[in-house]
Amino acid sequence: AEEKLDYVKSKIGEYPNFPKEGILFRDIFGALTDAKACVYLRDLLVEHIRQSVPEAEIIVGLDSRGFLFNLLLATELGVGCAPIRKKGKLPGEVVSVEYELEYSSDTFEIQRNAIAPGQKVVVVDDLLATGGSLAAAAELVRKVGGVVVESLVVLELVGLEGRKRLDGKVHSLIKY
Ligand code: PRP
Ligand code: HPA
Repeated sequence: AEEKLDYVKSKIGEYPNFPKEGILFRDIFGALTDAKACVYLRDLLVEHIRQSVPEAEIIVGLDSRGFLFNLLLATELGVGCAPIRKKGKLPGEVVSVEYELEYSSDTFEIQRNAIAPGQKVVVVDDLLATGGSLAAAAELVRKVGGVVVESLVVLELVGLEGRKRLDGKVHSLIKY
């Protein structure tokens, strides 16, 4: 597992001053162009869920880079998946919450019928920065009756202390 992790890490892109001055942007897509990194990343995430949160019943991915992982993990684990999307994209009855990002703000929505009452949810995203996105996601899951059993990301920017804003289990594969 350590070798797989080091390999994936070596493929993550690093862009100073993007999208704004002073931000060091970590780019997950740099790893996804590499076939071996894709497989390793899948293996690491699936293995983690099997060991740490085997009770997971649905995988919720965050718009937009969380969608790279929710369907992938759902198919591997034999569960369903659902999206949390930026406002105005989901049809039917939705629940909304406003949240702040590292360098902007936005509104997230979930469909009211996406999650069954009491269903155990793993929320997945590419990256944890300030934690605003995952905190908003957890609030939405709770509002529609689900239980977040873990927040799972590939990359964590530890210095921004996003973990502090999240309740329950938080796991990241790679920390900066
Ligand atoms: C980025 C990233 C996470 C979020 C992390 O997404 O993919 O979802 O920010 O930041 P936070 O921990 O401070 O909330 P962004 O909102 O830029 O949207 P995108 O995935 O559509 O590019
Ligand atoms: N990379 C990708 N997304 C982000 C970052 C980053 O460094 N910071 C906040 N969102």
